[in-house]
Amino acid sequence: MERTFIALKPDIVRRGLIGEITKKLENKGYKIIAMKMIHVNEDIASQHYAEHVGKPFYPGLVKFITNAPIIAMVLQGENVIESVRKFFGKTNPQDAEDGSIRSDYAQITRYNSVHASDSPQSAEREIAIYFKPEEICENWKTTYEIMSEEIGE
Ligand code: CMP
Repeated sequence: MERTFIALKPDIVRRGLIGEITKKLENKGYKIIAMKMIHVNEDIASQHYAEHVGKPFYPGLVKFITNAPIIAMVLQGENVIESVRKFFGKTNPQDAEDGSIRSDYAQITRYNSVHASDSPQSAEREIAIYFKPEEICENWKTTYEIMSEEIGE
């Protein structure tokens, strides 16, 4: 079963929207198997955003992501990486699809509210940066999983 790493960024935390976005994830039916608040420091930022180190926007990205805590989560499900990226919308909120999180909650790329892994390799790497294996709760089933077992997809 596929896993992805997501984060509610400092703009969401500072605006008091943690519950609202988390509720949307739950309403959609995503299975949250790990969650924590963490105040990212420069070291963690450079690990998470290793591919962007040296790019012109990197200093601003670090300043933003270390400015207030984030909510880090691991979601698990069929095709969850692609599904969540669509749910969140394009990186630049101006290009994000109507109804997506970034379209509804963000205006500019730097303050784009949420992060989601872009591939299975990124997901594995990013999950390992933020979570120890024992912090991931995998031994339980959602109602949807039980229904799928009983009725089928
Ligand atoms: P995220 O999905 O977290 O992945 C990398 C982040 O870098 C991205 O969201 C943006 O917040 C930021 N980013 C990417 N491109 C730019 C850019 N051109 N200008 C500013 N920030 C960017």
